[in-house]
Amino acid sequence: MLTAEENDILTQTDAETPMGEYFRRFWQPVALSEELPEPDGAPLRVTVMGENLVAFRDTEGRVGLMDRVCPHRGADMFFGRNEECGLRCVYHGWKFDVDGKAVDLPNVPPGVRHHETVRIKTYPTKEFGQIVWAYMGPKAENMPEVPQMEFGLMPERKCYVMKQMLECNWAQAMEGDLDTSHFSFLHMPAPHIQTTENRDANSPNRHLEWMRRDGRPKFDILDHDVGFVVGGARATDEEGELYWRMTQFMLPSHGTGPATVPGETYYGFTLVPIDDHSCWMYCYAWNPERDLHEAELEKFVEGHGIIAKIGPDYMPVRNRSNDYQIDRGTQKSTTYTGVQGTAEQDIMIQQSQGLIADRTREALTATDSAIVKFRRSLIAGARALSQEGVEPEAPRKHTAYRTRPGAWVASSDKELDEVLTERFGHERGLVTG
Ligand code: FES
Ligand SMILES: [Fe+2]
Repeated sequence: MLTAEENDILTQTDAETPMGEYFRRFWQPVALSEELPEPDGAPLRVTVMGENLVAFRDTEGRVGLMDRVCPHRGADMFFGRNEECGLRCVYHGWKFDVDGKAVDLPNVPPGVRHHETVRIKTYPTKEFGQIVWAYMGPKAENMPEVPQMEFGLMPERKCYVMKQMLECNWAQAMEGDLDTSHFSFLHMPAPHIQTTENRDANSPNRHLEWMRRDGRPKFDILDHDVGFVVGGARATDEEGELYWRMTQFMLPSHGTGPATVPGETYYGFTLVPIDDHSCWMYCYAWNPERDLHEAELEKFVEGHGIIAKIGPDYMPVRNRSNDYQIDRGTQKSTTYTGVQGTAEQDIMIQQSQGLIADRTREALTATDSAIVKFRRSLIAGARALSQEGVEPEAPRKHTAYRTRPGAWVASSDKELDEVLTERFGHERGLVTG
């Protein structure tokens, strides 16, 4: 449970809030590269942490991210002309480059100071992993680097990137991922459906059966340089072995999917607040060992795992406005929820907690330990920065973001760090090679 003040700290990310300032110390995804497909193409409205911005790709292919409000008399730069290395306000023709410098003020007489002093607010951007990232923090000369997550280091044929809109606060979406115990319920077939036929221990059916049988996994959490790794262990069919699902949390809002076995495709995501009542979930699937299959890519378009089926506006097709197309017949006969798609089931239940989950009224249990850890880490980081001026260290440890999540069956006398070493060759799941 949190106090009302703590819940506000955790969930509010506008500029000058403690969490808002903390988030601004980290590079944030602000658009997919595909949304700005060509130089001098149409500008894009972007809202990040309550700030209304416009993104555009200039003549040289650089991405600008600037305030939507023209400094002359406040017209909306979204309607501007994207031409010759700058965005020109169409009210009186003031033009700014990607760095916010006024390069043409056609209605200002020569010699007037405006030519030297007028600027528009912009943020530095970088493209990494088919995503445009922005740094919205204080203009430090030594800005941190974009976190070097593994998907971004892959050639494009080995990774798939998309985004989907969530109509709720970012923190409860993060908590949904950290709580891997809900898999024993929310994502299960209806209770009378058999999942036991297949005896092959590597079969996803076996994993599903183990998860269904054991709704109280034992959790272990280990800190690392940029967050922590959570292991949830469940009984298998064998005495003396456990089925581990291990997920990575990386500051401030990166998560992963815990089910990948060696050779399979990995999943991760980043949550970026649009405002306190909605966020973007940037999802990525990557396979370090092979190109993604055509069939896999087709599955992603239809929705798979953490990836929902989306419309052209990146809104999930099954969403709040249509009750996620819940089918009560299917809920009786086939699946626990009657909602199609793992991602949609997550989205439904997270959004059902309210636009901002009320954490002053909860009854937490042992399987919520990773959620408690997440809240404490974030609130402590935001408070340290806002009250004592302590800068977070994680943004400077960009290479420590190259982590892997996944599943593994291990002897039950193994501790989490040993299981991680067996599965990943590193005691926290970091790719070091
Ligand atoms: S309001 Fe933009 S140039 Fe006048
Ligand atoms: Fe889930």
